[in-house]
Amino acid sequence: MASSDAPSPPTYEVDISTLYEDVRSGLSGKNKRLSPKYLYDAHGSELFDRITEQPEYYPTRTETEILEDVAGELLEGVSELVELGSGYSRKTQILLDALEEDGGDRYVALDVSQSAIEASAPRLIEDHPKLSIEGCVADFEKNLDIVEHKGRRLVCFLGSTLGNFVPAERVKFLDRVQAMLAPGDELLIGIDLVKDIEVMEAAYDDSAGVSAEFALNLITVLNRELDGDLRIEDFEYCAPYDRDNNWIDMKLRAIRAVDAHFAKIDFDVHFDEGEELRTEVSCKFKRERFERTLVEAGLKLTRWDTDANGWFALALATKVQYRTRFRSKL
Ligand code: AVJ
Repeated sequence: MASSDAPSPPTYEVDISTLYEDVRSGLSGKNKRLSPKYLYDAHGSELFDRITEQPEYYPTRTETEILEDVAGELLEGVSELVELGSGYSRKTQILLDALEEDGGDRYVALDVSQSAIEASAPRLIEDHPKLSIEGCVADFEKNLDIVEHKGRRLVCFLGSTLGNFVPAERVKFLDRVQAMLAPGDELLIGIDLVKDIEVMEAAYDDSAGVSAEFALNLITVLNRELDGDLRIEDFEYCAPYDRDNNWIDMKLRAIRAVDAHFAKIDFDVHFDEGEELRTEVSCKFKRERFERTLVEAGLKLTRWDTDANGWFALALATKVQYRTRFRSKL
C-alpha cells in the first residue's frame, strides 16, 4: 500500500548495484573496461536516441525497414511480446501494431533506463488500448526471471544489442534467454552484419560527434555516481573496427597521464598517456557463425530476413527440444 508520506526510495540515474565492484575490477591495472549499461543514464539514453538519427548510423534504419516488411508474419499467433533492452521502444511500435491487430494482449518492456521506460510508456499505452503494457526497470544480464510467463511468447532483442557481448558472454546470455522460452515460443534477434569497414566505422564515429559525446558521457556518470574528479578534456573517443574479432572497439583514450580519485569508494585510478578504457564492443555477424552460436545456446534458427543491401538481419529462433551435451571422460 502506497501512502503519500512514505519516504520514497533513493533513485539513481544508473543501476549502481554493481557499479562499485565493476569500477574496482574494471579500472584497476591494464585492460580497462566497464559494462556498456553504465552509458545509459537519462542523458546517455537521449544521446543514444540521437545516434540512431545520424545519417551514418544505418542499423536503426535498416532494421526498421525489415520490421516493416515482416512484422505481420512474425506476430501471428503471439500473445505476449517481451522486449529486452527496449530503450524508448520506438521500433517496437511496428511490432505492437501487428501484435494488437493479431489479437495479442501483452507487451513487457525491460530496460536499465527508468527514464527511457517512463518517457515512452504514455505513448505506448495511448497507441495500443487493447494491450496490457508493462515496464520493467531491470538489467537483462541479471533479472530475466522477473517476467512472468503468461502466454505464447515472442522475446525480442533488437538493434544489435547482442553485439555488446563478447563471444563467451554471448552464449551464456542466450542460454539464459532460451530459458525464458516455452516450447513454441520464439526469439527475435536483430543483428548487424559484417560489411564495408568504412561504412561500419562511420556509423560509430558520426561527423556530428554524437557517438563521441555518448561515450564521453561515461566520465560524467562515473564522476556523479562515485564523487569522482575525472576530466572529460583528458580523453578522446575512438572506435576502430577490429578485423580479428569482427567488432567495433569503442574506447576512451587518455590524451595525457591521468590520476583521479573516486571519493565515494575511496578508489584511485591511473591512466598512462595513450591508455584506453573500453566502453563497449559492437560485434558484427555472419549468418553461419551466428547460427552456430544459437546452437550452442540451445536455440535453432527458423527464419532469417535482411534488408535489401544485406547490412542487417532479423533472426528468428526457437528452443530446441532436446539438447545433447557430450562430456569427455578421460
Ligand atoms: C545499442 C549496442 C546496439 O552497438 O550499435 C552505437 C550501441 N554505441 N553507437 C550499437 C552504440 C555507439 C549500439 N547498441
